Formats: sequence, structure tokens, C-alpha cells
Amino acid sequence: MTQAPPKFEIFATTAPGFEKALAAEMTEAGFKKPKMMPGGVRFRGNWHDVWRANLTLRGAVKVLARVGSFQTIQLEGLKNLTAELPWLTHLSPDVPVKVDVTTQKSKIYHAGAAQERIENALRDAIGVQISPDAPVTIKVRIDNNMVTFSLDTSGDSLHKRGFKAAVAKAPLRETMAAMFLRQMGYDGTQTVLDPMCGSGTFVIEAAEIAAGLLPGRERSFAFEHLATFDIEDYAALRATDATTAPTARFFGSDRDAGAVRMSEENATRAGVADLCTFTKMSAGDITPPDGPPGIVIVNPPYGSRIGDKKPLFALHASLGSALKKRFAGWQVGLVTTDGSLAKSTGLPMNSRFAPVAHGGLSVKLYTCDL
Ligand SMILES: C[S@@+](CC[C@H](N)C(=O)[O-])C[C@H]1O[C@@H](n2cnc3c(N)ncnc32)[C@H](O)[C@@H]1O
Repeated sequence: MTQAPPKFEIFATTAPGFEKALAAEMTEAGFKKPKMMPGGVRFRGNWHDVWRANLTLRGAVKVLARVGSFQTIQLEGLKNLTAELPWLTHLSPDVPVKVDVTTQKSKIYHAGAAQERIENALRDAIGVQISPDAPVTIKVRIDNNMVTFSLDTSGDSLHKRGFKAAVAKAPLRETMAAMFLRQMGYDGTQTVLDPMCGSGTFVIEAAEIAAGLLPGRERSFAFEHLATFDIEDYAALRATDATTAPTARFFGSDRDAGAVRMSEENATRAGVADLCTFTKMSAGDITPPDGPPGIVIVNPPYGSRIGDKKPLFALHASLGSALKKRFAGWQVGLVTTDGSLAKSTGLPMNSRFAPVAHGGLSVKLYTCDL
């Protein structure tokens, strides 16, 4: 009888504020008993679950696999106990690693000294090379004298789907776009329109979801460098890509011709150009496409300085007026830093969602039904 693969703790991180949306995505995707924590969602699983989380979750930013923990209050103890962990179960000695330590409320308070001891322990124990450019990062958290080791199984942040070469000013991260779409109740069947589409993030993300494309289908991950990687099992997971024939269509417009071109290029690279239409147009001139009402989702400029705000009220008012006149039956979602800008659309905008950290700002989804 073959034994079930061992389970361990896995933590999918997300932008603080999206824990609930990510937990909902994980439940839908069949991850067992996801538990919301500040900054992410924890669950127990095996390496297959780690690959699947990286490849398929749209709201996760990193997937961390816990590989060991112990208590110590001394640097010498840290070194000895680190060396005793079963590193060869996880790491290939010929693949360099880097070590990233944080410490709080602990007798070992100097992260640099702790890092040095851990690196020495790893070199001595398995002869692995330590390098700042290593493809694998070991994250070490020392909290209340408890030392926890996790492998960053993602590598580059998962919002980097691998398609967006052209980037507009202030693009939204793909992970955030996916979670805002989820908060709107988007399920891959509704038409989605973004009247200030920038680099096309909302539109492309919505089209990919409708087509059943896996967010990580084209990129590589740190877990491919670990000793636990099973290339055949992973290839079978990737074969579940693009399983749906979408019926909905996706629309983006922007007043900036460069943004429209960028969106088109990004959609082509993502393989969803046939599902998307991008048009150069001012937000005040938008009209609904043929077909049933769907979702308007938009992330207008915020204006980070107070003096920048004035023209933004007029911009929001003109968007609101176009929506009120021509988009009866549609749902509207607006992502902004400032509730007064959402109100200035003249639409009955409300928010029942947590604020989310984005590039040093705090943004929130405001919604209404027309
Ligand atoms: C914050 S960016 C949107 C970023 C986008 N969500 C992305 O992920 O790339 C705001 C966009 O609004 C566009 N914009 C500003 N005023 C506009 C107007 N009156 N009509 C249409 N687009 C406008 C800008 O050109 C810019 O691309």
C-alpha cells in the first residue's frame, strides 16, 4: 500500500484586505479548510497542493511551505538546530539558496547574526551554496523565541503572470484585479467593461478567468528547483489549462492611445485578444456593448497630492453621468483611495469591503447597481 504524501502547513499570502476573497477562492478550488490569517490564508497540504496553489490561485501573492520549526534563545542553538533539520528532503545541494530572516520579541534580536548562523549551518550540513541571486529563498521568522522555516515556493510575486511587458502608469496588480472582480461577484460569465483600462489588467484578467486559463501557465516558479518537484505530476496539472469556451466578451477603453495599444499587446500575449476589444475613448463617452448588462469595473486616477484632486471630481462626475444615462441594469465597481471621489460620480456608491494596501496607498472597492 502506498502512503499518502505527508502534509505540512502552507501559507498563501495576499495583499492585506483580500484574506476573505482569497479564502473564498481557495475553498472553491478545493483546498481543504483554508484559515484566514492577517496577510494571507493558511491550510495543510502536500507538495502537489503547493504546485496547484501557485499555478491556479489568482489572489495569492506568494505560497510559502513550512519546513521546520524549533525554539531557541541562543545563536549557537540556532546554528545547531538548523543543521539538524532534514534539508535534503526539500533542497538539492547543487541549487543555491538565500536566507531571509525577520525577528521580533525574541532573545535573538539581530536578524543579520541569525542569518549568518543559519547560512553556516546549511553550508556545513548539506554543502549548499548561499547566493543573493539564488532561485530558492528560505524565509526564517523568529517570533517569541520560536524559529519557523518556510520555503518561498513561488519566486517572483505571483501577480507577475508573465504576460505584461507593456506597463501603463500606476497599473493594478493582476492579483488585486482578480480579487476585486471576485468581490464584484464576477464568475466568468458576465460581460466586463473598464472605461479607464490603462494596461488592461481588469479586462485581461476577466477574459482569462472566463477562458479557464491558469494564471501561472507561462511562468516559472521557485518550487521547480526543489528536491520535491515532480515534473510529470506538474505537467498533468498544467494540462488542465484553457478548459472553458467563454461566451462573455470583455471591453476596455482609455483616453490615452498608448494605453489602448498596451492593453492590446498585453491581451495578445495572454492569448485572450479574440475575447477583448480596446478602444480609445474618454470615459464620459462610453456606451454599453450589445448583449445583457454586465459589470463595469474601473480604477480611475487617484491624484496622490491634494492639489491634484480637483479635476478628478469632474472626471468622476462625467463617468457617473455616462453610466447613469446608458448602463441601466449594470453593476458598477470603482476602486479608489478616496470615498469622496466615489461619491462624486453621483451614483449610489457604497463599500462593504476592507481597504487594501496598494503601492503605499489604501484602496477600496465601491459598488452600486444601476
Ligand atoms: C490608475 S490608471 C488605471 C490602471 C489600470 N487599472 C491598469 O491596471 O493598468 C487610470 C487610467 O485612467 C485613464 N484616464 C484618465 N482620464 C481619463 C478619461 N477622462 N477617460 C478615459 N480614461 C482616462 C488614464 O489614461 C489611465 O490609464
